[in-house]
Formats: sequence, C-alpha cells, structure tokens
Amino acid sequence: MGNYRLEIENMSKSFPGVKALDKVSLFVRPGTVHALIGENGAGKSTLMKCLFGLYQPDEGSIKINGRDVTIPDTNTALHQGISMIHQELNPIPYRNVVDNIWAGRFETNGIVVDEKAMREKTRKLLSGLDFQVDPLTLAKDLSVSQLQAVEIAKAISYDAGIIIMDEPTSSLTIAETEHLFKLIGNLKNEGRSIIYISHKLEEIFEIADAVTVMRDGKTVGSWDIQDISIDGLIHQMVGRDMKERFPPNENLAKDTVILKAENFTSADPHSFQSISFELFKGEILGIGGLVGAKRTELIEALFGLRKIASGRLEMNGVEIKNRTPCEAIGNGFALLTEERRATGIIPMLSVKDNMLVNAYKKYVKNFVGVIQPKKLTRPVEDMCRSLNVRMAGPEMLIRNLSGGNQQKVLVGRWLLADSNILILDEPTRGVDVGAKYEIYKIMRELVSQGNAIIMISSEMPELLGMSDRIMVMCEGRLTGILDGKTATQVDVMRLATKFSSKKEDSLEKDK
Ligand SMILES: Nc1ncnc2c1ncn2[C@@H]1O[C@H](COP(=O)(O)OP(=O)(O)OP(=O)(O)O)[C@@H](O)[C@H]1O
Ligand SMILES: [Mg+2]
Repeated sequence: MGNYRLEIENMSKSFPGVKALDKVSLFVRPGTVHALIGENGAGKSTLMKCLFGLYQPDEGSIKINGRDVTIPDTNTALHQGISMIHQELNPIPYRNVVDNIWAGRFETNGIVVDEKAMREKTRKLLSGLDFQVDPLTLAKDLSVSQLQAVEIAKAISYDAGIIIMDEPTSSLTIAETEHLFKLIGNLKNEGRSIIYISHKLEEIFEIADAVTVMRDGKTVGSWDIQDISIDGLIHQMVGRDMKERFPPNENLAKDTVILKAENFTSADPHSFQSISFELFKGEILGIGGLVGAKRTELIEALFGLRKIASGRLEMNGVEIKNRTPCEAIGNGFALLTEERRATGIIPMLSVKDNMLVNAYKKYVKNFVGVIQPKKLTRPVEDMCRSLNVRMAGPEMLIRNLSGGNQQKVLVGRWLLADSNILILDEPTRGVDVGAKYEIYKIMRELVSQGNAIIMISSEMPELLGMSDRIMVMCEGRLTGILDGKTATQVDVMRLATKFSSKKEDSLEKDK
C-alpha cells in the first residue's frame, strides 16, 4: 500500500551477546501518532537509532513515502526529514541553550553569526512550546526537565516529517506534558508522523492513533488504538496478565516517628522554606508537586547535598545534622537521584560494580578488610534477577544497558545498601510496567522491615498507588499532607498549584 509515510521491514541488529532487533517491522501513516512500546531492553531505542542513522542495521529495509532509502548517518536522516528526541539527554554542558539547539546551523548576516537573531528565534521556539527556559543559560545549569525541553525544541526546529520521541515526558510534569501533547496534536494536523515511545501507558491512550508492541527484539503486533485496551497492551508487552499494578499495602501500624524535620529552610532564598514534617517507621511518604516546587532541592538538603539556612532534623528523637552526604549515609540515609546519567551511573564500570558501590563495606570480611569476590556476585545476581535486569552478564559495562535497565541497577544499588531512610527521586523513571511492580514490591518489603521511604514522583498513578501519605509542595512551600488511601489526583493538583496565580504573573514578565 502506498499510504505509509514510513515502512521499516525485517530489520535486524546484533550487539556482542545480544540480538537487539530480530526482523522487526514498523509501518507509520502520515498525520498520526504511532506509539512504540515494550519492556526495558525490548529494542525500541535500537530500532529508532537505526532509523536515525546512529546505528547501521545488519539487515532490513526502510522506505519513506514509498521510496527505498539508506540512512548511513544522522545528517542523511535529517535530510530525509527525520528528527529525534533522544531518551538519554546529551547536552554540550558549557554552551548555552541557543548553541545547544542550533549547533552547526547558525544564521549569518553575511559573514558573522547573527547572535541576536538566533537568540530571538530560540526564545520564540521555546515560548511557542510554553517552556520557561532562558536561551542564554549554560546547559550545565539547567534542570533535567529544562534539558528535556531543550531537546524537544531542538527536534521540532528541524521541521521534520517524521519525529521520533523516545520517552520525551520522562522528566516533564503534568502541565508540561499537556503542552507537549497539544504541540503533538498540531504537528499531527500538519500531516507529520510522530513515533512515540513511552512507559506511561495512560499517555499512549491519550495521544496515539496506533501502537506497535515489541518484545525481546521482535514485533509482537500493531493495533489501531481503539482496538486494544490497557490490560491488553500490558499482556502483549510482558507476555502474561498482570492483575495489579501495585502490590497490596498491608497498612501496618505507623506510630513511631523515625525522622522529624522542623522549619527546614534552604540557604537559597528562592528555594524551599519552612518545611516541617514527620516520617514514620514503616511508611512510604510521597512528595507531589510540579516542576519548580523544589522537591528535589528539599531531599538533597535532607541528604546533605545542599546548605540550609535554618531548621532542625531529628532521627529517632535525637538531633542530627546531615551536613554532608557522608554524614547522611552514616546516619542511615540513602538517596537515589533523578538524573541517572549525571549523578547516577558510573559508565565505565560494570553492572556489578555500579550496584555495589554503596554496599562494599557490608561484604568486606571483618577485621582483615578482604573483599570476597564470590560473596559479591551472589547478591548482585539475585537483585538483577528479581528486578529482571536484561544484560549479557553482571560484568557488562552499564552504559551498554538500555535506559530502563540502567535505572533498575541504580535502584538495586540502594536496595542493597542497608539504609533505614531511603529517599527516592523518581525511582521508576523509564522502567517498564513489569519491573515497576518488582521495584514496588521491594519498597513495600523494606518498609515492612521497619525502614521508611521518601519518594518524589511525578507519575500520578504511582504517587497515589504507593504512598501512605502524600506531602504536596508548591513553589518551595508545603501546601498540605494527604492520606494516601483517600487522596485523588484532583486533591494533589489543587495543592500543587496553590500559588499558581503568582506563576502566571512571572510568565507574563518573561514575555
Ligand atoms: N551499544 C550497545 N552495546 C551493547 N548492547 C547494546 C547497545 N545498545 C543496546 N544494547 C542492547 O540491546 C538491547 C535493546 O536495547 P534498547 O536500548 O533498544 O532497549 P529499549 O527497548 O529502548 O529499552 P528501555 O525501555 O529500557 O529504553 C538491550 O539488551 C541492550 O542491552
Ligand atoms: Mg530505550
């Protein structure tokens, strides 16, 4: 049939030890959003990298508008009208937003680059997308969600007919996601094709017209979105039925305060202020809020990564300071950061070493200080099995794992670290539904042993499904604490936007 914008047929690609793609086919119509889903390591990003000219497939054909093409490099891809929002952000840290978006294709006014015009163009592009990012900020000073915004703006700026979005909303919050969806609707109406990869299945039903499921490097099938349900999709992805998306909460008595924060106030006057809360033994305390709510800053301060101006911390009734991460770890704290590439994985080390960096002490033989390699391998293997980490083996370099599998290793690291207060910032970002459930199960297990968890989550189902209580923040202030059993999305959103009139003012000023 001649009515496809893109036809990929029988595409295969192997890496040492893995067949990442095994005769995959994908057909995308013009003017549609085509979702591509599958478990971590299923081959989604690899397929898209082959289409975008980053990898060379071992076999297979690509047709665009009915014509055979070969795509040896990304320039050819762009030339063919394909652009890509990458799953792993890769900004040039010491360049500003303008440079990061337009690198290599600057407008000149005769001989020199017309910086003012470029700046104006960038500002227009970003504000058209409703992203609040200053074009002159260096990439290294941007937050993860701002970096994602820049990446989206860049992909849009190519004016491509096929736009690949590999987990574009992983760091965006609800409002930003809504903006992006509006934009996707416009792109679609202009006749463009969007290939949309996401682990947030609710999103797929909101915006996709068709969906293709991959499993173990193969295509399982393609459907028009109205012909399949969310449970049907999960079944196709994981190859079995999943009755529940969250493990049961046994609701054990939670009456012992393990951590108490009083008037916690950042040294940065634009950050969080006067935050007071209690964390109970056996509890999962969720923190909800929009970007800019300063949730990450708050937990980083709890962990000794940021200075506070005032406030007091008590653990089991005794004052503690947590002036440095080292001190915090000594007090039994652990922190899983939200940006796995910048502050999480150690790319040149193996999966095993990445998982054990915080737990080596536990496995050192007493008195002599000798590490016993055998004892190290077992816990890593067990953890990888229970989290279903897809890899050739624990000695594999972590940077060669798929994005979601890297995240699982990081979660495993903290689960092995033996801490009492586990702080998780977006723990299941980019993790597939099956593995999410495994992570949730381990979280429940840890709190039932008398530990406590503080979890930042921007995924509403996760926040509502996992938290015993939900603490909501807006613009650096605590706006309310909800009971997880009864709270609804509307309750959380109301508290998360409590001061939003002020936000609109500042939006006006930016224009
Ligand atoms: N450069 C590489 N070297 C070795 N193996 C690789 C490389 N890139 C990908 N792989 C392997 O190919 C397989 C598919 O990975 P891919 O990144 O395509 O998965 P994915 O479906 O995008 O998963 P996720 O949802 O976690 O992003 C994985 O087993 C991965 O470890
Ligand atoms: Mg991927």
